[in-house]
Amino acid sequence: MAELTRELNRHLYNYHVLDAPTIPDAEYDRLFVELQQLEAAHPESMASDSPTLRVGAAPIPEFSQVTHALPMLSLNNGFSDDDVEQFDRRVRETLGVQAVAYATELKFDGLAISLRFENGVFVQAATRGDGSTGEDVTANIKTVRAIPLRLHGIGHQAVPAVLEVRGEVLMFKADFLKMNERLRAAGEKEKANPRNAAAGSLRQLDSRITSQRNLKFFAYGIGVLEGAPMPASHAALLDWLEQLGLPVSKERTVVQGAAGLLDFYRDIGTRRSLLPYEIDGVVYKVNAVEDQQTLGFVSRAPRFALAHKFPAEEALTQVVEIDVQVGRTGAITPVARLQPVLVGGVMVTNATLHNEGEVRRKDIRIGDTVIVRRAGDVIPEVVAFVPERRPLDAREFVMPTSCPVCGSAIVRLEEEAVARCSGGWTHCGAQKKGGLMHFVSRRAIDVEGLGDQLIEQLVDKNLIHTAADLYTLDKARLSSLDRMAEKSAQNVIDALEKSKNTTFARFIYALGIRNVGESTAKALAQHFGNLDALLHAATWENGIQLLEVADVGPIVARSISAFLSDADNLALVNTLRAQLYFQEGSHVMQNAGPFAGMTFVLTGTLPALSRDEAGALIEAAGGKVASSVSKKTTYVVAGADAGSKLAKAETLGLAILDEAALLALLAKSTTPQETLETDTP
Ligand code: IVH
Repeated sequence: MAELTRELNRHLYNYHVLDAPTIPDAEYDRLFVELQQLEAAHPESMASDSPTLRVGAAPIPEFSQVTHALPMLSLNNGFSDDDVEQFDRRVRETLGVQAVAYATELKFDGLAISLRFENGVFVQAATRGDGSTGEDVTANIKTVRAIPLRLHGIGHQAVPAVLEVRGEVLMFKADFLKMNERLRAAGEKEKANPRNAAAGSLRQLDSRITSQRNLKFFAYGIGVLEGAPMPASHAALLDWLEQLGLPVSKERTVVQGAAGLLDFYRDIGTRRSLLPYEIDGVVYKVNAVEDQQTLGFVSRAPRFALAHKFPAEEALTQVVEIDVQVGRTGAITPVARLQPVLVGGVMVTNATLHNEGEVRRKDIRIGDTVIVRRAGDVIPEVVAFVPERRPLDAREFVMPTSCPVCGSAIVRLEEEAVARCSGGWTHCGAQKKGGLMHFVSRRAIDVEGLGDQLIEQLVDKNLIHTAADLYTLDKARLSSLDRMAEKSAQNVIDALEKSKNTTFARFIYALGIRNVGESTAKALAQHFGNLDALLHAATWENGIQLLEVADVGPIVARSISAFLSDADNLALVNTLRAQLYFQEGSHVMQNAGPFAGMTFVLTGTLPALSRDEAGALIEAAGGKVASSVSKKTTYVVAGADAGSKLAKAETLGLAILDEAALLALLAKSTTPQETLETDTP
């Protein structure tokens, strides 16, 4: 058994880490079955690093939490040559030297993971989580064949007593495409990109599923190290990890200064699409560990490292058709249906053309070969067509005169770029569905588990017409829908019940009034305090009162009046008000609280709080949260990966806080409350 274990592990390593198989698959399988049989007969002699552990174990009810002994940090981002030169300049100035050597590596686009080895044996894997605590995914990580279950010995060198390896779990592009093919064949939803596919695979409670996903791993650093000396440089550390049997990407070098960094960036940029996995940039780290320690950290990101991101990705494909889509407010958006194409690892089949004017300006025609771009998670867009490739029979887009969904006339007001279906939500199914999807969305009324497909079905089957109808749904009607078991139906009913407790601001936002986003809804709620006051101000005669609200100009005021003067809308608002509980006040006191009159801008990832949570704390203390930095900004709260907003704050000389400083400021300014005695110890 020991011999078979050793031999099979060697083949796994050769195959998954060295990418140099040494045995035919069938022969591997034969040895594997032989070991399995021996283990079944002698379970007491099974090795802790047996390859048979890689097939996954019984499902677990939930992941338990793991507190990271050392926090898992993030990286600051740079986007331009300038950012890189500035980074190098700061490093040189802080260290007081003329030139710095950097270790360069890839920025893998997967999921960060921490692997703990005790006396060489793999014992635990945890996701990054919020950086301080993550989830225990040990069973799943055991199935990743590139990760050794036991570290390799190196001559007489001691194996470290504790070694936490940090790195990235990935799905290779080829495996991602195969997985999507399978999902498509099974009629299931495809994954958007390899990173999502990897994340979904790693977050399986059933590790037998993870085992089938062929996840990969690359190490890029360490956390805790005990019982072995820390190598003197990052490059030496990576070499050591490689010798211990861990996969480390070959795409790494040591370079001198900013010029060397930029050479590496350009070299990888030209070869990026040839890599078998996705990267979203490269990473630079000051090579000498001693210098890293001198440089230290700012708000959870090391000063000694920089992630240099690649720009948005583009690809060429053909426009098969141009259709229009009808949005929640009736806006008609031309959409290019494309020959499917991978753009930066994501399969793109549709791209927005925004509005008719845009189609004409860019002169996009059906049959054209076009450049499609996507950046981050935004909707892909058509950048331009390629003139040399325009076919003779390329057709121009014709804006329909009636709504493809309800048949009502499409109208375009002179001052607006966007054409709209004139049917309104009562007539037009697309608007009805869009409005309902908005109503239940997380930031609006927040009905968990009531997804787009469910809304589609409910409307198509005439079970509901308005948001108010949602609250009359019963289990029997819900269970009659496709893919709706009784348990899920009950969950939806419970979520609807829970959603009834809401706030006035959420209620206003959920109505989906055109031009009334979250912050305007909050401003309206604060200003008017209760629904009657708002309805009164929104009549055409009194509409001018709306202009007193911060944030509301003539266009927004007109949208609000138009919406709340409409009989159907008013009827809906009144039904909903009887169904929901939201606190209405008389005029809520404005400008109360210790942060009154202060404007905050949040940027980057904070260590513990989400941006919403931080924003809520600031608002609860009477402060305002703005999205862009200006001279009027009182404080900029910066977390890891803060980019241009932080830079702007620095140039303007604004006060910058990290999370701890924000919390300290809050604690200082709120009057201390007497602590209540409790009888629990
Ligand atoms: S080092 C001390 N190196 O990027 C810094 N991170 O924004 C710790 N990432 O969550 C991270 N490739 O998942 C480092 N070569 C690389 C990386 C890398 C990808 C990810 C990592 C982390 C995020 C940081």
